[in-house]
Amino acid sequence: MNEIKIDRPIGVLDSGVGGLTVMQSLKALLPGEDLLYFGDSANCPYGNRTKEDILRLMNKILDFMEERQVKAIAVACNTLSTLYDEYAPARHTRIFSIVQAAADDVARRNLKEVGLVCTEFTANSGLYQKLIDERCPNLPVYTASNHNLASTLDQGRFAEVPANVRANMERLFAKGHPKYVILGCTHYPIVQEEFEKAAPDVVFLDPAHAQAEDIKNWLAENGLLRQGHRGQLEVATSGEPSFYRDMCLRLGIGEPDILEQITLG
Ligand code: DGL
Repeated sequence: MNEIKIDRPIGVLDSGVGGLTVMQSLKALLPGEDLLYFGDSANCPYGNRTKEDILRLMNKILDFMEERQVKAIAVACNTLSTLYDEYAPARHTRIFSIVQAAADDVARRNLKEVGLVCTEFTANSGLYQKLIDERCPNLPVYTASNHNLASTLDQGRFAEVPANVRANMERLFAKGHPKYVILGCTHYPIVQEEFEKAAPDVVFLDPAHAQAEDIKNWLAENGLLRQGHRGQLEVATSGEPSFYRDMCLRLGIGEPDILEQITLG
């Protein structure tokens, strides 16, 4: 492994704008770090694709991040995190899975049951149930997948969101009525208030903070935490940069220092 330089950025990636919700947590927790974001909106959604197709797209993003010599990578996408074992071992950069962070967070909360809303790919992977089982055997994970909420949000079709979210929660409640529900797609916290309106008695868990904490702890343990510097935000996308700028402002991240459209490989 090459020497990791403290002044390199942290890479943050997603199929689209959803991972900006993780970037928001990283910026709040690690204000001294430079962040390099890539969102692949030209190919979003990933959650309805085949595994081979997702890995092909993911390897291009990882090549880009490693060319830019990021010091760590946040996979700010649940769908991509379900395939962690397929790409992470071959890479020399430390990669952080949001599904692992979410499962660890659930285990720490000592719950009796939990709900999960996520993409079809994440639901079919069964990874949430598997990782939660390892720490809390017999804790049911009631799951309701959503075919198109990630793409609806990525395309800015906000008028369709309330009905979509209500239907998602009805599908979940047909299986069980847990008090805690994981927002298991990083696009969903963009409209967390719609989930709260659809299910006012539920506490929604956004794993972004837990993933940011994992990264902060690792940086601190390895002497890589950058302080006394104003972190720069670079946002790159294969989609429309102005939409990413609007989303950064909506999420309170602020104006990116660099905003660019790029095509990978
Ligand atoms: N933000 C991604 C996730 O967390 C959305 C995946 C997709 O593009 O379908 O799963």
